[in-house]
Amino acid sequence: MTSRVRAGVLISGRGSNMTALIDAARGADFPARVALVLSDKPEAAGLATARAAGVAAQALPYRDYAGKPAFEAAMTAALEAAGVEIVCLAGFMRILSADFVERWRGRILNIHPSLLPDLKGLHTHERALAEARAEHGCTVHFVTADLDAGPIVAQARVAVRPDDDADRLAARVLVEEHRIYPKALATVARALRL
Ligand code: GAR
Repeated sequence: MTSRVRAGVLISGRGSNMTALIDAARGADFPARVALVLSDKPEAAGLATARAAGVAAQALPYRDYAGKPAFEAAMTAALEAAGVEIVCLAGFMRILSADFVERWRGRILNIHPSLLPDLKGLHTHERALAEARAEHGCTVHFVTADLDAGPIVAQARVAVRPDDDADRLAARVLVEEHRIYPKALATVARALRL
């Protein structure tokens, strides 16, 4: 097999999607490996989870930097130092600048908890219920300068049930997130090696 694509995962919290990527990358045939996890929040639980799984993990606290350009320059420097070729946003809750997105163009993915282009932004589960949607779900897409609007790589649909609340719905969507994100990363990683 050609060398695995080195992935960097950006998180802000729990990191369950990050864990799904790390676990999938243990597979002998998986075309990527997680080389580095970065968090803008030092208290992100996912940092300890990554280290326990043997993956390098580093906090870059946003407040330590003079502003977004300095913070993003530090992220790119850390990613480059780790030889990262593809960036996976996994519950990373900051909007990235056009410059950062351009640096990683075609090599930066995000997972979003809705059926994009529906329900961009935050609180997607609450909004799906408030709007009485019959279907909800999740999307892996390339990141572009427009929020939650880049080309779609994978989607999974979840039926909304009459007794759903936001937590129950989110839990079923999350199962699908963990299923499609590794598949989407594998698809994009294989394409990078063609
Ligand atoms: C996931 O549901 C992810 O789709 C969402 O945050 C959660 C992070 O969970 N991302 C966004 O809302 C991005 N706009 P995790 O830290 O356990 O992966």
